[in-house]
Amino acid sequence: MEKTLLLIKPDVVARNKTGEILARVEKEGFAILGLKHLLLSPQEAELFYGIHRGKEFFEELIAFITSGPVIVCCLGRENAVRYLQEIVGDTNPSEAKPGTLRAIYGTDMHRNGVHIASPDENPSREVHFFFSTRELCS
Ligand code: PPS
Repeated sequence: MEKTLLLIKPDVVARNKTGEILARVEKEGFAILGLKHLLLSPQEAELFYGIHRGKEFFEELIAFITSGPVIVCCLGRENAVRYLQEIVGDTNPSEAKPGTLRAIYGTDMHRNGVHIASPDENPSREVHFFFSTRELCS
């Protein structure tokens, strides 16, 4: 079973939409292998989003993602990385297909509902940024 990472952003957690999102991913055939509710420190956020360091939106991205607790979730399924990308939709909620998580829960480029591991980067690094192997049920 392939593993991937889903992070529910602070505004969505504050709106009590976590249960809806977890229900949706379970309905789509994902198993929840690990789950944490945590507040990222600025140092952790800068490390996690290191690939965007230097971009004009970086500081605002760090301020937003550390503005309140997030939910991080390791999800397992066949073809998990690419399938999650399909149901989450475009980074920009206004371009995300109807019915995708970003179309439903996102409002703008920062408040785009959820972060997911990108197939072009290193999904396993993102999973293990938050979870040790011992913490993941398979
Ligand atoms: S890009 O253009 O390749 O850097 O975009 P992407 O890899 O899809 O993700 C960018 C993440 O930064 C957040 N963000 C923005 N991206 C682009 N432009 C602007 N103005 C911007 N502001 C914020 C965006 O929400 C992506 O965060 P995640 O958590 O990965 O969805």
